[in-house]
Amino acid sequence: MGWKAEWERSISDPDGFWMEQAQAIDWDVMPTKALHDRGGPVAEWFSDGMVNTCHNAVDRHVAAGHGARTAIIYDSPVTGTVEHVSFAQLQGRVARLAGGLAAQGVGVGDRVIIYMPMVPQALEAMLACARIGAIHSVVFGGFAAAELAVRIDDARPKAILAGSCGIEGTRVIEYKPLLDAAIDMAAHKPEFCVVFQREQAIADMTPRDFDWEDFCEADPVPCVPVAGDHPAYILYTSGTTGAPKGVVRPTGGHLVAMDWSMANIYGVDPGEVFWAASDVGWVVGHSYICYAPLIHGCTTVVFEGKPVGTPDPSTFWRVMADHKVAAFFTAPTAFRAVRREDPQATFMDGHDLSGLRTIFLAGERADPDTVEWIGTVTGKPVIDHWWQTETGWTIAGNPIGLEPLPVKLGSPSVPMPGYDVQVLDEGGHATAPNTLGAIAIKLPLPPGTLPTLWNAEERFRKSYLDAFPGYYETGDAGMIDEDGYLWIMARTDDVINVAGHRLSTGAMEEVLAGHADVAECAVIGVADALKGQVPMGLLCLTSGVDRPEAEIVAECVARVRQTIGPVAAFKLAVVVDRLPKTRSGKILRASMVKVAEGTLDKVPATIDDPAILDEIGSAMARLGYPVR
Ligand code: COA
Ligand code: AMP
Repeated sequence: MGWKAEWERSISDPDGFWMEQAQAIDWDVMPTKALHDRGGPVAEWFSDGMVNTCHNAVDRHVAAGHGARTAIIYDSPVTGTVEHVSFAQLQGRVARLAGGLAAQGVGVGDRVIIYMPMVPQALEAMLACARIGAIHSVVFGGFAAAELAVRIDDARPKAILAGSCGIEGTRVIEYKPLLDAAIDMAAHKPEFCVVFQREQAIADMTPRDFDWEDFCEADPVPCVPVAGDHPAYILYTSGTTGAPKGVVRPTGGHLVAMDWSMANIYGVDPGEVFWAASDVGWVVGHSYICYAPLIHGCTTVVFEGKPVGTPDPSTFWRVMADHKVAAFFTAPTAFRAVRREDPQATFMDGHDLSGLRTIFLAGERADPDTVEWIGTVTGKPVIDHWWQTETGWTIAGNPIGLEPLPVKLGSPSVPMPGYDVQVLDEGGHATAPNTLGAIAIKLPLPPGTLPTLWNAEERFRKSYLDAFPGYYETGDAGMIDEDGYLWIMARTDDVINVAGHRLSTGAMEEVLAGHADVAECAVIGVADALKGQVPMGLLCLTSGVDRPEAEIVAECVARVRQTIGPVAAFKLAVVVDRLPKTRSGKILRASMVKVAEGTLDKVPATIDDPAILDEIGSAMARLGYPVR
């Protein structure tokens, strides 16, 4: 069956469709049906089944005789290391780490925070939690201590597993002082931490800390089956306010969706090598560095480096060639970085890419120029797909394994099975083809997607379900064309996308507003040739403040880096007298974005004082915007 027939069946007979896909998973107790209405905000999947994620990702492959197959290739140009971990070795390591956790009293439903760089131990930590039914929450290393503290207080972990340091290009970033500071800041205290000591920075230990190697001397423990709707993990993501949203991933649906996507969306077979160049701290890392490749019996690449500078723009090509990568996945920004340093792709010379079949892009809009460049220099199909932390896998894509569809540059193509995607107008009515509106998904969402937010069911309803009853609101705006292809145009909230990283301008505004001299502020996302967008702060000072602008701006930049983290990439800020507002007092952020991009052709009718936009334009000119 082709894409259309599969998609239609998934919508008309979700139970039948997904029970069939569930056969690919090893269940301890097979669910009686796929879709369950358990009185929660949305229907859930496979709730009455019993299953273990680690068993499906690791143990079952060993049991099937594939123990010698490579599970993880760790390629770290920043430390000069290449290591192969077989499924049998992975099983041993994970079972012992899980044994250590169990011996310290961690069990089903307990939370464990993981704060680690791109090393195999990060995946082992995730899988060890899954093995004993503990719920992990991985926190990206580029977040500052305060952000980690917020997650500690929300998830209330029994334990934290951390690396002693991460390596950013040539810089060693010590994680342990950040971890200790976060625990000091948080109201909740974990019972213990386990620290993976890396030779680049050996961490000082406290009585609360175990050394990773000692901890893994514990007796191995078997996989513990959990209910199909048991939370596999919590992953925090940015919303409109400063408080991150704890996206909950349900176990059974996640397993089924992950496995289905590998065969049908990415078109890879067990035993092949899959590489997602992202970070375990993001959803791409959860789904396509850790879980999906391993569940499907593929080899996954854990790459600790950058597209450029580690040591040069040949790195991507070298890793693909050295490890015979069959499918590669990254964010467009990574290729923009490569192209900027090596426009003719001369660094590709000498690297045999004959094993590479497809390149996948996601995380931000895939600009046609970049897509065309990648296609030209590699000669491979370049496939855009659109999804988000909340869904955990593709909403709209081009299902290479199922049926490759014609590519339309600039569109992530068509909805995947289970996703009834519609574009709605303000009244909640489906729009005509090619008409812009809010992109929503008719409930139920397919398996693997979020059933709620951790500790925040009301926020879940408010953020996603209330605007259009019966639909999940994606937060993206766009349109569907006459062929059913989706076009993603913009966010409808205050989320921006910086180098494929999702960030909240609201969170940055909260930090800036805490500066003693800032009376009022706005943060907007402005176009950036490398990162897609970067944040820009507009600061109104408290009356009477008479200090040099540069000083205040530098303090604000440092403050955001200190509180949110370097990943915010907040480097642009300017002092203005007033912010443009509507007569009812709403800040006109979208108009300011247009001023920064030089595309403001119409001043909004609701503006209180149109002259302010000119003032904003003059201020932005001091930052070199709009960039010509
Ligand atoms: N730990 C500590 N700091 C980190 C970090 C981590 N794990 N990850 C990023 N940072 C720091 C960077 O060093 C940088 O610091 P700086 O301001 O001192 O230079 C800052 O956070 C911003 O990082 P980033 O926006 O990633 O910029 P960059 O210049 O380091 O790299 C790219 C730019 C495009 C090469 C890089 O972002 C990239 O490869 N992105 C695409 C892949 C990706 O992970 N996408 C996610 C979803 S698929
Ligand atoms: P995240 O939750 O970090 O994966 O970010 C999800 C958001 O990134 C989406 O809601 C979109 O705004 C944006 N995004 C992800 N993939 C794409 C894509 N292929 N095209 C356009 N925008 C995308």
